[in-house]
Amino acid sequence: MKSIISLLPLAASVFAQQEAPAAQIPLQTAKPLTLESIPLLGYGTWNLKGDNISEAVSWAIQTGYKHIDCAAAYGNEDKVGRGIADGLLRTGLSREDIWVTSKLWNDHHGTNSVEAGIDTTLEKLGVGYLDLYHMHWPVASGTFGNSIEYLDTWAAMTLLVQKGKARHIGVSNFDPEQLKDLLNHTSHPPSVHQMELHPYLQQTEWLEFHEKNGIHVTAYSPLAGTNPTYDNTDPTPLLNNSVVGKIAEKRGCTPAQVALAWGMSRGTSVIPKSQHKERITENFETLECVLKSKDIKTLDKLGKEAHRYNNPSKGWKVDLYKGLEDGN
Ligand SMILES: NC(=O)c1ccc[n+]([C@@H]2O[C@H](COP(=O)([O-])OP(=O)(O)OC[C@H]3O[C@@H](n4cnc5c(N)ncnc54)[C@H](OP(=O)(O)O)[C@@H]3O)[C@@H](O)[C@H]2O)c1
Ligand SMILES: *[C@@H]1O[C@H](CO)[C@@H](O)[C@H](O)[C@H]1NC(C)=O
Ligand SMILES: *[C@@H]1O[C@H](CO)[C@@H](O)[C@H](O)[C@H]1NC(C)=O
Ligand SMILES: *[C@@H]1O[C@H](CO)[C@@H](O)[C@H](O)[C@H]1NC(C)=O
Repeated sequence: MKSIISLLPLAASVFAQQEAPAAQIPLQTAKPLTLESIPLLGYGTWNLKGDNISEAVSWAIQTGYKHIDCAAAYGNEDKVGRGIADGLLRTGLSREDIWVTSKLWNDHHGTNSVEAGIDTTLEKLGVGYLDLYHMHWPVASGTFGNSIEYLDTWAAMTLLVQKGKARHIGVSNFDPEQLKDLLNHTSHPPSVHQMELHPYLQQTEWLEFHEKNGIHVTAYSPLAGTNPTYDNTDPTPLLNNSVVGKIAEKRGCTPAQVALAWGMSRGTSVIPKSQHKERITENFETLECVLKSKDIKTLDKLGKEAHRYNNPSKGWKVDLYKGLEDGN
């Protein structure tokens, strides 16, 4: 049977690219990464805390990650930025060799606030531009669920591309009606949609909508409920799931690698977070974990009872994820 990775030109090219020893990579590449070459394996930074945030981020870059997912709301962009600078210095890579994403927080929505949002992020991260800037939620603090509002915010984000502050713009946590509304009202569709996706929340139809519309999808919380801010009591934690465990054993992978390889097999980028060197390395080595199509089919069955871990709907008193699996 053909291996899944061999069916995936994107993942394979990322693999090839990232296999090159750092010393052989030229100090300066001419051009930033393109959306078509977005590295499918990224590094998440939510909940990186304490005094070794920069070490963790730098270690990720030294390990080979070329895609770092940040956000103003994570409250750590200054330290993440120092980690990026340190990682680039130690590997001899330049800014253009990596893909840096960040997100506009809910308190900077609206025509006149968006640019200040990205300016602060650029300064804290210590980069001249972002490869991707997401609207973190279709929700502005204080004006929940007001569609006019997110359309204005989006319009302001399109200007950031014209000014060269963001190379691409995207959305996050939109539901189908909100995304269609946005597509109906802009000549600049989002390049990427970041959303919760893992074997317990597969949203396959929703993913296909994005494929049809040429919107890349990034899977957040790719290890399902493993993030300790989530209630991970039910269902069985994904990394303890015996179906995942058996596949891991058969293919010589770890459960986390199986979850991440499943995500990449669908063409989505995955952005696992870890503050531990051995796990940062383990997750990166997913690029060497080759699943067979029958493994993917088996994992697909884990999505029958969809379980969503990230839903601030109640606290924010706003409908989210209308019409989506395990939504409101
Ligand atoms: N757009 C959004 O609204 C949104 C929402 C959620 C997340 N995100 C992004 O997506 C990223 C990833 O999601 P996430 O942080 O929620 O969850 P995740 O990456 O699925 O899981 C992270 C948790 O798993 C642990 N872990 C990592 N690798 C492991 C391994 N190999 N074996 C066992 N445990 C492991 C980490 O612990 P240690 O750190 O202790 O190793 C951490 O507690 C975030 O960091 C953020 O960048 C975006
Ligand atoms: C960061 O500190 C924690 C707590 O001391 C430790 O468990 C972890 O391994 C450290 N991570 C890095 C990347 O140094
Ligand atoms: C988008 O526009 C189409 C065509 O005009 C319309 O049928 C549809 O209802 C609109 N969708 C939303 C969510 O506004
Ligand atoms: C999941 O596995 C971890 C590590 O082996 C263990 O500590 C934890 O108790 C397990 N959780 C459940 C619910 O089985």
